[in-house]
Amino acid sequence: MLEPRIKAANFMWLLVMAWSSALVVESTIGVNWGTVTFRKLKPSTVVDLLKDNKIPKVKFFEADPDILKALMGSGIQVMVGIPNEMLALVSSSPAAADMWVRQNITTYMGKGGADIRYIAVGNEPFLTSYNGQFQNLVMPAIRNIQQSLVKANLAGYVKIVVPCNADAYESSLPSQGAFRPELTQIMTQLVQFLNSNGSPFIVNIYPFLSLYDNGDFPQDYAFFEGTTHPVIDGNNVYTNAFDGNYDTLVAALSQLGYGQMPIVIGEIGWPSDGAPSANLTAARVFNQGLINHVLGNKGTPLRPSAPPMDIYLFSLFDEGAKSILPGTFERHWGIFSFDGQAKYPLHLGLGNKVLKNAKNVEYLPSRWCVANPSRTNDLTIVANHMRLACSVADCTTLNYGGSCNGIGEKGNISYAFNSYYQLQMQDARSCDFDGLGMVTSSDPSVGNCRFLVGVTDKGSHSSSTQTKYQLWVLILFVMIQRSILS
Ligand SMILES: *[C@@H]1O[C@H](CO)[C@@H](O)[C@H](O)[C@H]1NC(C)=O
Ligand SMILES: *[C@@H]1O[C@H](CO)[C@@H](O)[C@H](O)[C@H]1NC(C)=O
Ligand SMILES: *[C@@H]1O[C@H](CO)[C@@H](O)[C@H](O)[C@H]1NC(C)=O
Repeated sequence: MLEPRIKAANFMWLLVMAWSSALVVESTIGVNWGTVTFRKLKPSTVVDLLKDNKIPKVKFFEADPDILKALMGSGIQVMVGIPNEMLALVSSSPAAADMWVRQNITTYMGKGGADIRYIAVGNEPFLTSYNGQFQNLVMPAIRNIQQSLVKANLAGYVKIVVPCNADAYESSLPSQGAFRPELTQIMTQLVQFLNSNGSPFIVNIYPFLSLYDNGDFPQDYAFFEGTTHPVIDGNNVYTNAFDGNYDTLVAALSQLGYGQMPIVIGEIGWPSDGAPSANLTAARVFNQGLINHVLGNKGTPLRPSAPPMDIYLFSLFDEGAKSILPGTFERHWGIFSFDGQAKYPLHLGLGNKVLKNAKNVEYLPSRWCVANPSRTNDLTIVANHMRLACSVADCTTLNYGGSCNGIGEKGNISYAFNSYYQLQMQDARSCDFDGLGMVTSSDPSVGNCRFLVGVTDKGSHSSSTQTKYQLWVLILFVMIQRSILS
C-alpha cells in the first residue's frame, strides 16, 4: 500500500495527465508488442524504436516487468493484458486481484512511471474455439480488478477493457449485426459495465483471415482501394471488409441499447510471409490503406459523424516462436522483422514518412550454416535433420506462398540448418548435422529469400520459458531418434 501522502500526489498527477490527454481527440495508431520470440531485443532498444517512430500507444498480452520498467517515463500509453489462463484465479479471489494490480500496475505508476491506461481482462475470451471455458470468468474478474483499482486509487484513470474477437457477433449484412445468441447475456453485462466505467469496446478485426479462410471472399474487399464486389445494405454501400465488420459491431451494440459506445480496434494487420496472400506488398497496401482510412476520419456508414478511431496494429515485430496452428503466416505479422528492421515503407501519420529502424541492435557474426555441397546426402537422414531443425527453429518462409518457397531442395536444407544454427547462437556443434552442415561466411540469401543472422542476447533477458520448453522437445526428439536408429 502506498503512503497516503504519496497517494495524494499520485492522484494530482493522474488528474493532470487525464486532463492533458482529454484535450486530444484525434484518431491514433498504436501497436501490439508481442513477445513470443526466440531472442528478445533489449526493452530499451524497443522503447527507443517506438519513440523514434512517435508511436503513442502500445498494447501487451501480459505484464512483463522488464518491459514495463523500460516504458517508465517514456510518455507512451500502455494497455496491459491479463492472460485468459489467469482469469480463474483473479475471478475467484479478490486478494489475487489485489496482488495482480499491485505487482503489475501500481508498482510502475506515479510520477516518472509508466502511463498505464488500460487493463485488458482476458484476450478474446469469447472465441468460439474456447467452447465457453472463459466466458463466465470475465465479469467476476472485471469486478475484482475494478475493486482492486478503487483500493489503489487508480479507478477511472486505468480503465478495464475486454478485447473481443470478431466472431462474437455475426450477420450477413452489417445493419443486422448481433452478438452470438449464447453471448447475449454476458455481452449485456459487459457493455453495461464498460459504459458506466467510460471504457471503450475493444474488438480485433482481421480481413486477412476472412480471405485466408474463405475461398469465395472477394480479395479486393479485404483492402481499401475499392471493390468490384461491394456489399449493399439498404442505402449503405460497403467497399471494404473493415467498415462492414465495424458496422456489424455497431449494430450489435445498438441491439443492446449502446449504439454510441466508443469502439477501439485492439488488433488489426496483415502478415507478410508464409502463405500466398501473405506478402510484403499486400501487407504494406493493407496497413497503409487502413491507416489512411482511419486518419482520414471518414467514419463508417453507421457512424458517419466520424468519431476518432483508435487502432492497435498487429503487430510490432515478427514473433518466430508463435504456434503455427492458425497457419504458417502466424510468425510474420510484424511491421518490423524480429530484429527491429522495417519490412516496408509505412507512413504511420505520426510525423515520419517512413518507419525508422531499431538502433544499436547487436548481431551475431555474419556467418550462416548451409548444406555441405561436397556430401552426397542420404535423403532419410537429411529429412530427419530438417524436420528436427524446423520443429524448433522457424522455417515457415519455405511454405507454399512463402518468400523462400522456390529455393530448391538444397536451399530448403540450408535454410532449415541455418535457422537452427542462428537459434543456437551459432554454436558450431549445432551446424554439424552428422557432417551434412557447414559454416560459411558468404550470405546464402537468394532474391527475396533472406537467410537470417541472429541477434545476441547480450543485455537482453534470459530466454523465455517457451524456448526452454522447445529445447526439451528437441532433446526428447533426439533421444527418440537415437533409440529408433540403434
Ligand atoms: C503479473 O503478471 C504476470 C504476467 O502475466 C504474471 O505471471 C504474474 O503472476 C502477475 N502477478 C500477480 C501477483 O498476479
Ligand atoms: C500478394 O498477396 C496479394 C493479396 O492476396 C495477391 O493478390 C498477390 O498476388 C500476392 N503477390 C505475390 C507476389 O504473391
Ligand atoms: C522445400 O520445402 C517446402 C516446404 O516444406 C516444400 O513445399 C517444397 O516443395 C520443398 N522444395 C523442394 C524442391 O523439395
